[in-house]
Amino acid sequence: MDERKPFIAANWKMHKTREEGVRFVEALQREVGVVEDREVVIAPPFTALAAVRAVMKKPGFKLAAQNCHFEEKGAYTGEVSAIMLKDVGCDYVILGHSERRHLFGETDDMIRRKLGVVFQQSLVPILCVGEVLEEREAGRTFSVIRGQLEQGTVNLAPDHLKELVIAYEPVWAIGTGKTATPVQAQEVHAFIREHLSSLYDKVVANNIRILYGGSVKPDNVDALMGEPDIDGLLVGGASLEVTSFKRIVQYQT
Ligand code: PGA
Repeated sequence: MDERKPFIAANWKMHKTREEGVRFVEALQREVGVVEDREVVIAPPFTALAAVRAVMKKPGFKLAAQNCHFEEKGAYTGEVSAIMLKDVGCDYVILGHSERRHLFGETDDMIRRKLGVVFQQSLVPILCVGEVLEEREAGRTFSVIRGQLEQGTVNLAPDHLKELVIAYEPVWAIGTGKTATPVQAQEVHAFIREHLSSLYDKVVANNIRILYGGSVKPDNVDALMGEPDIDGLLVGGASLEVTSFKRIVQYQT
């Protein structure tokens, strides 16, 4: 349990030029100082990955991409491969974000293949799962999450599985200002861990970091991180300003 290092990630989505990204990361490192007990992960758009990597100097700061293609290479105009993300210095890749699933038609099968190519490059995937409002209201939250988890992880080797990071992001909470309460989030996180334990084993389940995402803000971060199965956060809107993201990085429980 104790090995789950807290993981605070900024998902910038389609925001920030290279210069804006560089300025942000330089300021954040200056203001936060050395982070030893937590990982701070920045996921800029593809165009800013190299520039942000070049100014990441402090240990504890890591780079993530927001997506990648499920093939290693080929005639896929407009796509970016895991090999390219490795080359540019990424550590992590966000996969299956609800915006990818819902706006760009990504299926569980595509996401499963993406996990495979990402691990092949020794990068670590952040697998996003989450239910939409109608599914929650129909009492289907757990079955939706179970399906996304099982289909995403089905072919993974135990060594890969225990490195995997999972982000629970209820779709109704993303960008809406409606955060899941810490109790609601904890309930699903505990379910995810239990389900992984039954699918694989307890050691794997206890190693996997499970992040919460969806309207995380400076004023709800401490309560969320106080829950036993919430190991970190995936932050969208509030990760765009240094002041608010710094406060989130410096959460206190
Ligand atoms: P939000 O986005 O913090 O703006 O709700 C979270 C996410 O989509 O990862």
